[in-house]
Amino acid sequence: MKHFTSVSQFTKQEIFTLLEMAEALKENPLPFSTQLFAANLFFESSTRTKMSFTVAERKLGMEVLDFHQDSSSVTKGETLYDTAKTFEAIGADMLVIRHESDDWIQELQHGISIPILNAGAGKAEHPTQCMLDLLTIYQEFGSFQNLNVTIVGDIKHSRVAKSNADSLQRLGARVFFSAAEGFVDHALPYPYISIDEAVQTSDVVMLLRIQHERHRDEGKFTNYLERYGLTKEREQQMLPHAIIMHPAPVNRGVEIDASLVECNRSRIFKQMNNGVYIRMALIKKILGEWGKLNEVTSEKRQ
Ligand code: CP
Repeated sequence: MKHFTSVSQFTKQEIFTLLEMAEALKENPLPFSTQLFAANLFFESSTRTKMSFTVAERKLGMEVLDFHQDSSSVTKGETLYDTAKTFEAIGADMLVIRHESDDWIQELQHGISIPILNAGAGKAEHPTQCMLDLLTIYQEFGSFQNLNVTIVGDIKHSRVAKSNADSLQRLGARVFFSAAEGFVDHALPYPYISIDEAVQTSDVVMLLRIQHERHRDEGKFTNYLERYGLTKEREQQMLPHAIIMHPAPVNRGVEIDASLVECNRSRIFKQMNNGVYIRMALIKKILGEWGKLNEVTSEKRQ
């Protein structure tokens, strides 16, 4: 793997190996014994992804080069490519990048000679979110085969919906979408069902936030929660074993009733916790494949 841009790069076996590696790292994090630098280049806002990458890198014993776009030379007109090239030149061993462009990876992938991990590409892909969601579902059900997973909300503008739907279907789940008309993406090959059907038939109800930052006029719905979201009444209709997921940030009272965010069915904060360990696994895999861990000992740092 040159760069980690999409879960579609992995075979099914590689996905399961990474899920198991994440579980093992949760029990027994093994820091690298060699000095390695990670640079987290976030050109879009983030709390979970940026901070869980930071925790993952620190648990692995890496030095973290933090980057703030507003106080960087991006404000003087430096491009993403030249910013990445600069971090490569000053000794970063790995780049974690989030950018609003759908295809920033194409711009970088041939000119940058250190591994890049995609932490979010516009509306196109959010592969580390996908991997942490797969881990959460795997922990719950032990398999993806024949699970009904409905992704509910702003499908059209969501990178999470695209990454997750493709991977879940490949792993054997039946994927459905549920969305208000303005949020339907007709280019994606998944059936749409109503939120009322979704709650009655799904093993996983995965909610999405309205991506206000990606559109101006769409998404101005009255009574959005009552018409399209997960109300307390709908939660009562869910299958006994069914779980609620959400990549967060959550708009409490918009796509989900505020009281359901921390209810027994909710795995929302478990997803965030899993994000640390799946990112550790991904970092370990990519640095290993680049030969950067050759001197690493399996002994835990004292
Ligand atoms: N789920 C997610 O990507 O959250 P952040 O935008 O806070 O990183």
